[in-house]
Amino acid sequence: MLKHTNYLTKVYGVKDGHTLAVYEREAQGYQAAKKVLTSMTREQVVDEAKKANIRGRGGAGFPMGVKWSFMRPHATKPAYLVLNADEGEPGTHKDRTLMEENPHSVIEGCIIGCYGIGAHVAYIYVRDELHLSKARLEAAIEEARAKGYLGKTPFGKAYPVDVHVHTGAGAYICGEETSLLNSLEGRRGEPRLKPPFPAQVGAFGCPTTVNNLETIGIVPSAFLMGCEEFSKLSALHAINDGGVRLYGVNGHVKKPCVVELAVGPTLRELVYDVGGGVLGDKPLWAIIPGGSSTPVLRADELVHAPDEKSPLHEYHGKSILDVPLGVDTARGLGTMLGTCCITVMAEGTSPVAAMQNLMQFYRHESCGQCTPCREGSGWLVRICDKLMAGTATMAELDTLHSVANNIMGNTICAFGEGTAMPALGFLKKFRKDFEAYVRDSQAGKRATLVVEGESFLPPSANAGAQAAE
Ligand SMILES: Cc1cc2nc3c(=O)[nH]c(=O)nc-3n(C[C@H](O)[C@H](O)[C@H](O)COP(=O)(O)O)c2cc1C
Ligand code: SF4
Repeated sequence: MLKHTNYLTKVYGVKDGHTLAVYEREAQGYQAAKKVLTSMTREQVVDEAKKANIRGRGGAGFPMGVKWSFMRPHATKPAYLVLNADEGEPGTHKDRTLMEENPHSVIEGCIIGCYGIGAHVAYIYVRDELHLSKARLEAAIEEARAKGYLGKTPFGKAYPVDVHVHTGAGAYICGEETSLLNSLEGRRGEPRLKPPFPAQVGAFGCPTTVNNLETIGIVPSAFLMGCEEFSKLSALHAINDGGVRLYGVNGHVKKPCVVELAVGPTLRELVYDVGGGVLGDKPLWAIIPGGSSTPVLRADELVHAPDEKSPLHEYHGKSILDVPLGVDTARGLGTMLGTCCITVMAEGTSPVAAMQNLMQFYRHESCGQCTPCREGSGWLVRICDKLMAGTATMAELDTLHSVANNIMGNTICAFGEGTAMPALGFLKKFRKDFEAYVRDSQAGKRATLVVEGESFLPPSANAGAQAAE
């Protein structure tokens, strides 16, 4: 059931909500960091963090507390916490709201996170074009330093902590954690082979935890409440997917937005209750659940989970739109929760045009190190182009499938899967439509990605656009 919460978003929209004074007044700001630094050991912090069941908000859904536990003190090297605020995944727009509206939750999360993993410095990696995000983070750091929350003795504890903002030039691949680390070090933003993992060899060759910005931003709320209590806010606490998180709704909906909800809303609730329904009151056709790398779901799919041991068994035979959305339930549906920002598509959208659009993006963003990704993404685009131009053959649909399949598991980083999975998803779910584009050479000319007569822009932006015309 839809449960709106406001742990992260309490100061959103409040006058000067991004400032320290408002954060302290409205959200018990820095009380959690004070509690942690003055009353807990490092080990206790990690044990407590595990109880929150915070699944990484950057896409893969790895449990945050478990990741923190991989950090071991090194005899000679310092440790680092690195926050990933690159947010380049198409359809994803949640971290930006946090940086702009509630930067102090992120800084407070850095203090707790640094202490937990044994680091004294956190870097926040932000793409350069996010000017307001950078300014708000920098201002929050200055305020926290001035108050002594960052510095040599935060809350009287002789445990120095400092936070720095580092900007990246805005490449999607720099969101991949090892590529981000290369970029942070001033190198070319290309992924590194794993292992070694960042916990062993991370930033500047030192043990490092890389977490998504929202993952760290929610930490103060969890510690303030008690991590187990926090986890129980979620409808999926029993399957270790705890707390609350930011959900984005975009695409063909009446009210594109970012909201904070207890983990476990259904897709139906996100589209209709949060997003206000489909543009033009069109039938719902398909949803990309968590950023463009996650495989598409058809709105008419039913859950197939006949095995009684499956976490989805109670939904067997029901609409996929009515399954509480979490990291493992999304996996059970054959897709991924990813960044938790859904892209909604109305009936009439062309799956071939949608796939072409995505593949153009991936081809452009491939760093080029691996042949299957560099060349394969080009093949995928070329076949999509031929489908749209009405010159593709049936055999090329099989080529499309085999090229995507050959990218899977054969690359240095998960960008390869992020390219292949959506391609395979569209092809599998809409095979008949793809075949129709081979038979009808004019199909591509009629293809659309928009809802006729409707705009993606919110009403206020519409008014501005019309005035400009
Ligand atoms: C191509 C690619 C792009 C990524 N972009 C981002 C990103 O913009 N932000 C992010 O937090 N994670 C991104 N990730 C995931 C990171 O590699 C990493 O898993 C994440 O930052 C870990 O944080 P979390 O455990 O808190 O989710 C990306 C991964 C890949 C393969
Ligand atoms: S999978 Fe693609 S993006 Fe990742 S390292 Fe290889 S070529 Fe670069």
